[in-house]
Amino acid sequence: MHRPKAITSALFVLLTVVFVFCGTASAAPQSNSSKHADSSRMLIAYFSLSGNTRLIARDIQRMTGGELFEIRPVRRYGPDFDTAVEQARQELREQARPKLKETISDMSRYDVIFVGFPNWVGTMPMPVFSFLDQHDFRGKTIVPFCTHGTSGPANTINDLKALPLHATVRNALSVYRNDVRDAEGRVRAWLKELGYLKED
Ligand SMILES: Cc1cc2nc3c(=O)[nH]c(=O)nc-3n(C[C@H](O)[C@H](O)[C@H](O)COP(=O)(O)O)c2cc1C
Repeated sequence: MHRPKAITSALFVLLTVVFVFCGTASAAPQSNSSKHADSSRMLIAYFSLSGNTRLIARDIQRMTGGELFEIRPVRRYGPDFDTAVEQARQELREQARPKLKETISDMSRYDVIFVGFPNWVGTMPMPVFSFLDQHDFRGKTIVPFCTHGTSGPANTINDLKALPLHATVRNALSVYRNDVRDAEGRVRAWLKELGYLKED
């Protein structure tokens, strides 16, 4: 059947538009929470005094391929447990924001920020509040993880969520201090559920 030339041209233009649109759509960046989140845009920031939270942070680093960052306050805690608890209590009373040795110079490089901490006197250690205060998390995804003693995560996660971060806060992982060395399976399952497991 003979088609008028105008209809053939219109059909060609329409097909070109559909083709270009589909190509653009498939090249669109994936969302943060997608199964194949970009590990080069993941940061694992953690504070750890006695090493438990660091072990979990390293598991997360290995399993996601993200970048590790230790939150290091200028002032030391301790040397013993009781002194550290007294310092933590005083900082909490004063709502202190202890000075950090380093900060992240360009937070725009990251979309997903894991934030790890021990439970200190029922909430996050004040250096973690300093870290959260000093960076812009607007529009980002924050993934908390916590290690703790017998009182569990207590108010840590809720206190983080109450901050005006303007970020999406995903489900936290909490690990009892005696279990951190055997927590790999739990860390893996948690990351898989969130869609951040590298080999997923
Ligand atoms: C200053 C200080 C305060 C703590 N307060 C609590 C607490 O209130 N509740 C709790 O369950 N554990 C508490 N702990 C125990 C830690 O949360 C637990 O040992 C954690 O795994 C330590 O992590 P880290 O090794 O990464 O520092 C406290 C520990 C310290 C040093």
